[in-house]
Amino acid sequence: MGKSERKIRTWHIVLGIFALLVIGVAVAYRQLSQPLPESAIPADYKPDIENGRIIYTAGGCISCHRGIGPHVELPAGGRKLKIPGGEITVPNITPDEKTGIGKWRAVDFLTALRRGLGLDGTHYIPAFPYTSYAWMTTKDILDLYHYLKTLAPVRNETPLDTHRFDRFALAFWKWLALPKRPFRPVPGKSEEWNRGAYLVLGPGHCGECHTPRNSIFIPDRRRWLAGAPHLSEKGHVPSLRGLKRRGRYKDVNDLFQALKYGESLGYEDISSGGMGEVQRNISKLPDADIRAIATYLMSLE
Ligand code: HEC
Ligand code: HEC
Repeated sequence: MGKSERKIRTWHIVLGIFALLVIGVAVAYRQLSQPLPESAIPADYKPDIENGRIIYTAGGCISCHRGIGPHVELPAGGRKLKIPGGEITVPNITPDEKTGIGKWRAVDFLTALRRGLGLDGTHYIPAFPYTSYAWMTTKDILDLYHYLKTLAPVRNETPLDTHRFDRFALAFWKWLALPKRPFRPVPGKSEEWNRGAYLVLGPGHCGECHTPRNSIFIPDRRRWLAGAPHLSEKGHVPSLRGLKRRGRYKDVNDLFQALKYGESLGYEDISSGGMGEVQRNISKLPDADIRAIATYLMSLE
């Protein structure tokens, strides 16, 4: 074989590897853009609207999806949210047929919260905290869907921002960042503790602010709730570990009071940097749920 022939041969191999890589990425991308099948909805599922309302409250959906002007009490969207490197429009999730989620099937909603994936295969920016919501049980997500359907539809056009490259890259990021299965109660822990753990991990998405992230932006589970730099505002989000040891709260009841009444009872450390809004949402939960959250948090060393 001559020198030039060998060169051509090498080139063919390089091109071949490159083509395989491109095909591999394309196949993986397609795979990661698949919605959940209709069979993901359990056959015996029956909506519980009141539970849906509780999950909506615990999930703080209104904090980001709040409408503008006359629609502040409804998740009509339209506000801008600061994200690292820019901002993003929060969409309308009222049941309006044209501009909201009125046309969505239950399985579309489940796909959005479990996989961070939209109707046309859009990969959502994780400012929508689906990496936490994905821990929620199928029943809770479906109840939430049926609760949203009971709200008044608002016509408000809120097209998703482009962020084309981010959305492509997110397909692969989500593969690493999304939990592989929903929350399962920890054996040996009380029912109350498990309820608290579930609310904090899933709907409450407390880890989105309170857990530090690694270099590719995935919450570091080894430092779960250990405190982190604030992503959308200045300053630091405090640790929720060792709350008792560090003398932050005397006991479960003390933290229960703080979560339920916040600043109005003098608990000043729970009012700024988005936490005030979180506390106002928590305060609307049934007392048993607030106590469960306090029980779980006070157990973290
Ligand atoms: C921290 C802010 C925040 C919270 C809290 C939040 N969302 Fe969102 N949500 C967003 C943003 C931002 C987007 C748009 C993401 C994008 O453009 O990729 C979004 C998108 C969505 C979408 C997709 C809408 C569409 O038109 O494709 C749905 C559905 C949704 N959110 C439902 C919810 C529900 C239900 C809750 C409460 C359990 C919730 N969100 C809580 C910020 C939030
Ligand atoms: C949007 C970001 C954000 C989210 C989401 C969030 N927090 Fe916070 N949290 C903060 C910030 C910022 C502070 C500090 C507030 C202050 O100093 O006024 C804080 C403070 C606290 C404190 C007081 C800690 C202390 O040392 O006294 C508790 C308790 C707490 N959060 C619990 C929760 C729980 C429970 C959740 C989930 C239901 C949650 N947080 C979700 C940002 C957040």
